[in-house]
Order: sequence, then C-alpha cells, then structure tokens
Amino acid sequence: MALTAAGALAAGMALFMTAPAAAGTTLGASAAEKGRYFGTAVAGFKLSDSAYTTILNREFNMVTAENEMKMNATEPQQGQFSYGAADQIVNHARSRGMSVRGHTLAWHSQQPGWMESMSGSALRSAMLNHVTQVATHFRGQVVAWDVVNEAFADGSSGARRDSNLQRTGNDWIEAAFRAARAADPGAKLCYNDYNTDNWTHAKTQGVYNMVRDFKQRGVPIDCVGFQAHFNNDSPYVSNFRTTLSSFAALGVDVQITELDIQGASANTYRSVVEDCLAVARCNGITVWGIRDSDSWRASQTPLLFNNNGSKKPAYDAVLAALNNGTTPTDPPTDPPTDPPTDPPTTPPPGPGGCTATVSVNQWTGGFVANVRVTAGSSALNGWTVTIALPSGATVTNAWSANRSGNTGTTNWTNVAYNGQVGAGQFTEWGFQANGTAGSLTPTCSAR
Ligand code: XIL
Repeated sequence: MALTAAGALAAGMALFMTAPAAAGTTLGASAAEKGRYFGTAVAGFKLSDSAYTTILNREFNMVTAENEMKMNATEPQQGQFSYGAADQIVNHARSRGMSVRGHTLAWHSQQPGWMESMSGSALRSAMLNHVTQVATHFRGQVVAWDVVNEAFADGSSGARRDSNLQRTGNDWIEAAFRAARAADPGAKLCYNDYNTDNWTHAKTQGVYNMVRDFKQRGVPIDCVGFQAHFNNDSPYVSNFRTTLSSFAALGVDVQITELDIQGASANTYRSVVEDCLAVARCNGITVWGIRDSDSWRASQTPLLFNNNGSKKPAYDAVLAALNNGTTPTDPPTDPPTDPPTDPPTTPPPGPGGCTATVSVNQWTGGFVANVRVTAGSSALNGWTVTIALPSGATVTNAWSANRSGNTGTTNWTNVAYNGQVGAGQFTEWGFQANGTAGSLTPTCSAR
C-alpha cells in the first residue's frame, strides 16, 4: 500500500514538475494558442457518420461547407433559395464553438443550370442578387466569405479567366465585394484561388495586382485565401512564405483555405504550417477534408487522417509545428561551444494577466468591433474581457466569444477553443452592434 502510494505520489510529482508550457493536443487548440484557427471542409451528408464527427468535433475549430454553400446548392432555381444542407453544417459547427468560413458567393464553376445559360446585365443582376441574399441569410454566422473564387486564368497571362461572369464586365469582382459588404458588414471578405502559391507565377502576380488595386481604391476586401492543393503538377515551393507575406503587406489577412498535399509528406505539411506561423496576418489553415477517403482527390491520399480515422505522420508534423516544437529531420548540428550561462537571477515570471485592444469599423448606425486578447508573461487558460458600450449601442451578434449583456457593461469570455493562449500570443474575436462605438476601452483579466 505504502509503496503504491509513494509511487503514485512520485509519478504525480514528476508529472507536475515536467508539465510543459501549454502545448495543445489537438489541431484547433494548438492553432488557437498561436492566435490562429485550424479548420476542415465538411460534407453535410457525413455528419451522420460518428467516426467522422468524432474527429471533426475533437480536432477542428473552423468549418467550410465543401459544397453546400455554392451557387448551385443555395439557388437551384432562380429566386428560390435552399439553405437546409448549409444550415445543418453551420448549426453543427456553431453549437460546438466552431466558426464557419462561407464558400463561395460567386464562381464560374458549380453554377446552377439557369445561371450557366445567362449573360450580360441579366447575369450581373442575378449574381449580385445571389450575393446579397446568401450573405444576408448567413449574416452573423460566418466569420469570412470567399466572395469570389478562382477568377484568374492559369498559365502565363496573369489575366482574368474567361467566364460568363467575367464577360459581364471586368468590375464584376468588385461589385460582388461591395454587395457582400452591404449584406454582412461583420464578415471578412476574401478572394480565394488555387495555383497562387508560387510567388514567381503570373497568376499569383495577377491576383496580387488586383488586391493592391482594390486596397488603393477602397474596394472592401479583407483577406485572400490560398487554396493550396499541392500535387506533382503544382508542388509546394518554399517561396510560398514570400507570397503570404507579400499579400499581407497589402493590408489583408491571408488564409490557407483548402490544403491537401499529394502523398501527405510530413515535411511539406510542416513547411506549410511554419510558413503561416511566420506571417502575422496568416490567421488560419483549413484542410480540404478529414480522412483520405473524404478527399475530393482520395487516390492521392493527401490528408491528415487515414481512411480508418487514425492520425498519419503528417498529423504529428502539423501538431508539432503548431506547438512550435519542430521535429528536426536533419542530424543535429555540433553542440554549442559557448559555456552554459548562469542560472537566471530573477524569479520566473508569475501569472502575467492579459491585455485587450479593439479596432472598430464604424458605419452610419452600426459598427463591427474586432477585439484582440494578448496573454502577458504567462499562458492563459481562459480570459474575461469587459467593454462598456456607450448608450444607444446594442450588440446584435458576436463570434468566437461568449457574451453576457448587449448594452452598457458587456462581459465576454473565451469559447472552448480560444481560452488557451500562449505567453505573449494572442487570439481574436469580435462583435457587431447597432449605434456608435465612440472610443471603447476594453479591460482583460485571466480566468
Ligand atoms: C470540390 C469539392 O471538394 C468536390 O466535392 C466537388 O465535387 C467539386 O468541388 N476548389 C474549390 C472547392 O474552391 O470548392 C473545390 O471543392 C475544390 C477546388
């Protein structure tokens, strides 16, 4: 008895003594510690597969509908909107604290038949009505929209792709963005494309020039999505990091939106995660499916989980990279020649609290507040933010935080996936309100 108790005590002590600084054990938790999300595409019909939902609910904190929000799914007949399948995915995600990326409002592909055969001003108005209706339906429920998908041509031209939408006039993309902003001022509005990873490619430069032009002219664009479908024909290249940072320098967030890698090389997955973590405005990664068998390119076995749901080496590499514990693949270099330094004379930092800052996007009659919670010298295991709203301001919706109070003094706490924030790291959430923000001065405390 005594021996057993002593052994248990020793084991407990050892566990306590060696407990690492917060390192997440799931993709979503680890990404949240770095102020990012980790998402997956979800196919609505798989939500009845418990092996699938077990992994989904455990690992991810962002969801993209794989097909259910596309134009052919949401407006199968002109003027008749159909949201059942998409709503099911949104409800599954949001009721479990996951956020949702909307995909996609306008695209040359997966159009309903009636739209495929339209052209000119009739098509332009039908497209804008679609953007308005769908963004309005999901208003407050999606954190970001791929407003326009895949509008640039492959190859060396760097030009727009020919399509029925492009033929309505070159301004169709900015018109779609303006309609989306008007319908859902709280959602981040993204342009999304593939084969835009290689900084030297004409297509990448074409999209870059469009985004720079949009920012200069005040077209409402907040983010650029990089699909990142890597395979033997379109391999990952190490200048992807330059691409991400160059776009971010234009003043947009960047996101990896549909990641899959033929063969699922652990090293390549690790590089992609490290590239995102190296760019402050790269705020999330989404893989395009959960198990290899869920992939649109299943024969390439490009995902993080085997068909039976077990974790592949690429999963371990991604988790380690998110936790910043990169596993070296090269032999270790020579031992350091410097003598060991003296033990620190200052005591280790104690609980470091947190700070909150807010950035406000105000329009006549309403505003969106994006709030950043930054951990102090210690990791956070939960946070509370208090914000006093001026009279007349009323919160209408919020994302990535739990709220008490809509007016006056409002209190906000972390949701399941963003309470753990590493020392010096941050996480972001926000809300939309009627009225005028004035100058908001949030206060933050650790829980
Ligand atoms: C794919 C889906 O995964 C498939 O199920 C569907 O048959 C075709 O579309 N770029 C995109 C995604 O933006 O919407 C595509 O998804 C993959 C390529």
